[in-house]
Formats: sequence, C-alpha cells, structure tokens
Amino acid sequence: MKVLILDTAEAAIDRSATILLDVVRRKPASVLGLATGGTMLPLYDRVVSRHAAEGVSFAGVTTFNLDEYIGLGPDHIGSYHHYMRKALFDRIDIDIRLTHLPRGDAPDPTAEAEAYERRIEAAGGIDLQLLGIGRNGHIGFNEPTSSLASRTRIKTLTDDTRQANRAYFDSLADTPRFAITMGVGTILATRACLLLATGAAKAPAVARMIEGPVSAACPATALQLHRQVTVVLDRAAAAELSLRDYYEHIHPNGAESDFG
Ligand code: F6R
Repeated sequence: MKVLILDTAEAAIDRSATILLDVVRRKPASVLGLATGGTMLPLYDRVVSRHAAEGVSFAGVTTFNLDEYIGLGPDHIGSYHHYMRKALFDRIDIDIRLTHLPRGDAPDPTAEAEAYERRIEAAGGIDLQLLGIGRNGHIGFNEPTSSLASRTRIKTLTDDTRQANRAYFDSLADTPRFAITMGVGTILATRACLLLATGAAKAPAVARMIEGPVSAACPATALQLHRQVTVVLDRAAAAELSLRDYYEHIHPNGAESDFG
C-alpha cells in the first residue's frame, strides 16, 4: 500500500485529483470506478475545475459506481444516480451512456447485482477504483463481516451507516436500509485503487485498514491484499497510524518515492 500523507484536506484532495486525471490523461478510454459520500464532493469539484483548465477530456471514459440504495429510482434526490449527475456527470464532457450505477429500483435487485458484475467484466474491468472509507471500516457498502470474496450483491446497512447518511434524507426512518454494492472481491479485482480519507473521524478506521490484521470485521483491510492501492490522507485522518513517520519518510508531503 502506498500511503500519502498531506498537510491539509485540500492538499489531499488535490493530490487525489492529480492521480485520477493522470489515469485519464494516459488512457482516454479508461474505466473508472467511482464512489459517493461527503469526502468525494470536494474531490469531484476539483476534478471538474482541473479537467477544464488542463484540457483532460472524459468523453471516452466509462464509469461504474460502487453502490446504490435499494428502493430509490434514479431521479430520487437521495439516490446516488442523482448525486453523481449533480456532483460530476453534468459538469464534465462525459458521455452519460457510458456511466453505470446499479438500479436501486430494479424489480429484481439480485438479478440487477449479477448483471452489474457482468457489465463491469464486459467493459474490460476497472482501471482505477475510487474509494472512501466508513467509520466502521466499510468500503462501498461492504459492512463489517462482508465476505472478502464477495461480488456485487445486496447488503443490509448498519445503523451506524444509516446515521451517517441520514443527512441526505428527511428522517432516519426515510434513510434506506438496503443497498446494492460491488463486493470486496469485485474491488480486489480492479487494476488499481485510490482511497481518499480526510478528517479525524476517519483516523481509527484508517489505522485499522493499513496496519490492522486482515479481517472481514474491517472490510477495508482486504485492500492489503491488492497489489496497487494508493491511500491519500490528510494529517487528521493519518493521526492514529503507528508507522506515520515511515510513510512520510518514503513520500514526503505525498510525493512519489524514487521507486514510484
Ligand atoms: C459510497 C461509498 C462509501 C463511502 C463511505 C464514506 O459510494 O462507497 O463507502 O465512501 O461511507 O462516506 P463519507 O465520505 O460520506 O464519510
């Protein structure tokens, strides 16, 4: 795992935008895996402003989002379809037909999950998967005890996750209980991952993910088994890492090391 620690959240976001834009610059027909949540909003803002300024086109890019709430149609204001249009898709030159999210309103969510997995395969797999991390160590909506070999499927959300996402809905009762999410195994099958975490609330989960034992109790620890993971952190999210000095020695201020 490559651990890049930046002084501020803003610097961590900018570093993450650079990594994502470089992938698209190198391969204009990239397949990107995308995430939602509060952490990603300033990252998408930065990608929007920089793609225009730097002339990086998304016209050939295909995307697959990690997850969607079951029961919400694409026009529901709390859906991830809606989030992605507002945060990114409507603001860049992407071909909306090449963007994919699981349909939360599919009549058969299990069949939808299986079909989603096949769509990712048909696109040739994911070049770069963007990830956030939940306070409970989830990636996508793979809650604690998710199989580390799991594929896209239905997951029941924990109370902690529903509380964290409640702000996007009228009340806790309105906050969805189920989601379709790429599995941990689906994420491990991607060619590279970029996980961004900012703020002190994420520090315990970040420390478990990077330095804890691999366990389904903290699904993000599965990333230790992936060959190409970059974790970008601000100082607050890195605060509980015991080998912080070592990571900063290798990557001062988030720079690449001499050996990449
Ligand atoms: C959503 C997703 C989740 C979030 C995580 C952190 O697509 O993948 O794993 O990344 O819940 O969410 P925030 O950034 O809101 O703390």
